[in-house]
Amino acid sequence: MKREATERSHYLAMDFITLFFLFSAIFTASAQQIQSNVSRSSSLTPTTNSTWLSRSGLYAFGFYKQGNGYAVGIFMAGIPEKTVVWTANRDDPPVSSNATLLFASDGRLVLQMGQEQVAVVAESSGSASASMLNSGNFVIYNSDQGIIWQSFDHPTDTLLPGQRLLAGHEIVSSTSETQYSTGIFRLKMQTDGNLVQYPVNTPDTAPYAYFATSAGGLGDNVTLNFDADGHLYLLNATGFNIRNLTDGGYPTKETIYRTTIDVDGIFRLYSHNLKQNGNWSIVWLPSSDLCAPKGLCGLNGFCVLNDRKASCACLPGFEMVQQGNWTAGCERNFTVESCKSNDGDIKYNMQEVANTIWEDASYSALTVPFKGSCAQACLEDCNCEAVLFKDRTCQKQRLPLRYGRRQLTDSTIAFIKVSTSTPTPTTPNGNILKENKKELRVSILIISASVGALGCMMLVISGIVFYKNHFRYKKLSCEGNVELSDDFAPRSFTYSELEKVTDGFREEIGRGAFGSVFKGALWNGQKVVAVKRLEKVLAEGEREFQTEMKLLKPDQTKTFTVGIRGTKGYVAPEWHRKLPITVKADVYSYGIMLFEIICCRKSVDWNLPEEESVLDEWVCDCFQSGNLTKLVGNEEADKKQVERMVKLGLWCIQDDPSLRPSMKKVLLMLEGTVDIPIPPKPDSFLSTI
Ligand SMILES: *[C@@H]1O[C@H](CO)[C@@H](O)[C@H](O)[C@H]1NC(C)=O
Ligand SMILES: *[C@@H]1O[C@H](CO)[C@@H](O)[C@H](O)[C@H]1NC(C)=O
Ligand SMILES: *[C@@H]1O[C@H](CO)[C@@H](O)[C@H](O)[C@H]1NC(C)=O
Ligand SMILES: *[C@@H]1O[C@H](CO)[C@@H](O)[C@H](O)[C@H]1NC(C)=O
Ligand SMILES: *[C@@H]1O[C@H](CO)[C@@H](O)[C@H](O)[C@H]1NC(C)=O
Ligand SMILES: *[C@@H]1O[C@H](CO)[C@@H](O)[C@H](O)[C@H]1NC(C)=O
Ligand SMILES: *[C@@H]1O[C@H](CO)[C@@H](O)[C@H](O)[C@H]1NC(C)=O
Ligand SMILES: *[C@@H]1O[C@H](CO)[C@@H](O)[C@H](O)[C@H]1NC(C)=O
Ligand SMILES: *[C@@H]1O[C@H](CO)[C@@H](O)[C@H](O)[C@H]1NC(C)=O
Repeated sequence: MKREATERSHYLAMDFITLFFLFSAIFTASAQQIQSNVSRSSSLTPTTNSTWLSRSGLYAFGFYKQGNGYAVGIFMAGIPEKTVVWTANRDDPPVSSNATLLFASDGRLVLQMGQEQVAVVAESSGSASASMLNSGNFVIYNSDQGIIWQSFDHPTDTLLPGQRLLAGHEIVSSTSETQYSTGIFRLKMQTDGNLVQYPVNTPDTAPYAYFATSAGGLGDNVTLNFDADGHLYLLNATGFNIRNLTDGGYPTKETIYRTTIDVDGIFRLYSHNLKQNGNWSIVWLPSSDLCAPKGLCGLNGFCVLNDRKASCACLPGFEMVQQGNWTAGCERNFTVESCKSNDGDIKYNMQEVANTIWEDASYSALTVPFKGSCAQACLEDCNCEAVLFKDRTCQKQRLPLRYGRRQLTDSTIAFIKVSTSTPTPTTPNGNILKENKKELRVSILIISASVGALGCMMLVISGIVFYKNHFRYKKLSCEGNVELSDDFAPRSFTYSELEKVTDGFREEIGRGAFGSVFKGALWNGQKVVAVKRLEKVLAEGEREFQTEMKLLKPDQTKTFTVGIRGTKGYVAPEWHRKLPITVKADVYSYGIMLFEIICCRKSVDWNLPEEESVLDEWVCDCFQSGNLTKLVGNEEADKKQVERMVKLGLWCIQDDPSLRPSMKKVLLMLEGTVDIPIPPKPDSFLSTI
């Protein structure tokens, strides 16, 4: 009964707006046409006939400008701001002006480039017509006028009056004010009846929540509803109003409303007066605590409320990864050297950040009398990178720290380990192994890049060229052109560089559980490399340790063993044990390959004495007995660097995948940006003996 009443009031309000627009619609472009009944075989292009308008003229479905191309979506054509309220395939790259949006003869709505289909906007085969409704809902009908598909069922970051968020569904913020791809916050109508806000890529559990309508559940199948007068409320499965977020009753005369989970993670109700042509103004928000959204300042950053505005700061000794983009977080502005120095100098001190709270991901907790003892405990522990001190509890942390914010009412003090030595240029330290005059030569290229929008990581581990009898590590020049120079050090590649190297990921040469391997060429084609594109990796690789056991849905980052794939000698133990296969299986293979490069031999070689025939076991034995010189034979090599590489390799081949570092961390270790702790003995050897 109640639901009917609210719906009726909502339609009355919509009718009013319709009338208003009939008489005062604003038409800005001749390319738009009012065609509320779109028939099959109709099409749109970005430049001519770019949209289908609603009867009122307020809403338009079709192309809008995005970056240097166009996206397909719904926007408010009738107001100067042209506010975008929905985007089709929001994470797809923008299309060029050559694209066509076709309401195909089979009833599907598809995006085409020439004759080639590039995306399906609506899976709606068997449909007869479509319509851009005055409510802002784009609807596709069958021949009996039944609704087959509607944009209201696929919200992105915005809800419009009349649209409801069903149980189990969520809206997700955009990347930026002008870029509508998936951002970092979500509002979820949970199946337990609770309406909760979380960062993206987190489990639906309390430690990650930063806003919730209730502590307990409010029943099954609760929906979030939104009326034309700004009333936001929860209805339970039998249609009873069980919670008001806003009381509604806001003026509807010449005024429209929308709710959006904004880029900064705050869910806001906005109004817009059509007559005054002003901007959107904020009517309501659940909390004015703008620092509440967890992860707003990225990894190693924390949020500070200043003058009711949220601003971000980096931990001491850290700087922004990407200027102007806090989502990318902060990174150390110094190179981490070995924690145990030869001459006994203390190379680090602890810097205090008072009144800040962080997610606690401690690996060890102590009870200490003073904050100073807590800082000291971290200084003396090579694995410790930060500590959180509160009420005589000292929690040792590894980086990155996240969800940081200043909270003056909280007495937690964070101490961060910061280098005291003056920074030295990294290149001379980059020499990993010294070259000598014999002829065997190995060069490794370790290339990684982040794929912004996809949040993926790419790796290239290749370009291994074997010559006779000596080896060295080569550095790729960091300048725009991809080429090899004679200096040493791993080097990062951007996604677009790798795209160029592989000629647009054209030639696939292999496929693994987590991505495909493509052929590429560096150095004007003189060096052939293999580029592996990981396709299922979450953005925050470091967090895998906690989550792998980041709780994840099985289909998200795990593949279960079906059949062993990969080259013998390199495959991780989990392949043999019917254990879940994660991206860490590649890290294992990488570790074996690193040993091969250090020792200049194959991973298994039965021609060698028995104790040396299995490389990883031999390396492990040599490491345990402190006899690393055996590994490099009569090569002239920097002992410290060999030890670093061996330690890294041993971390990579840990039996427990969660102990293996992420590939990103491997890179940081290779670069010397992070310390390489002493690895535990991989216990696969015990079990295979
Ligand atoms: C749209 O047009 C089709 C064919 O022209 C017609 O069959 C259908 O009834 C129309 N739908 C509406 C809502 O007017
Ligand atoms: C735009 O669409 C209308 C109706 O579908 C059509 O008559 C007109 O020719 C189209 N204009 C262009 C430039 O394609
Ligand atoms: C559009 O198509 C024309 C002709 O097919 C082509 O020359 C042009 O490069 C294309 N433009 C883009 C941006 O794809
Ligand atoms: C919730 O919805 C599901 C699926 O529509 C239905 O099976 C279930 O009975 C509903 N629960 C309640 C309490 O209405
Ligand atoms: C909905 O709420 C009403 C009033 O609180 C209650 O009587 C009814 O049982 C609830 N329905 C469900 C399915 O929980
Ligand atoms: C919610 O607000 C409406 C008025 O907008 C009121 O009629 C209703 O009783 C309120 N419900 C609750 C649960 O407070
Ligand atoms: C609307 O907002 C923009 C940016 O915030 C501002 O430049 C513009 O002056 C505002 N317009 C009005 C009418 O307030
Ligand atoms: C690193 O940042 C700190 C401030 O956080 C600054 O004092 C120090 O000079 C910086 N070091 C370098 C190498 O930029
Ligand atoms: C900010 O950085 C994140 C993470 O690196 C990236 O995904 C996002 O696209 C960036 N945002 C903008 C607006 O560049």
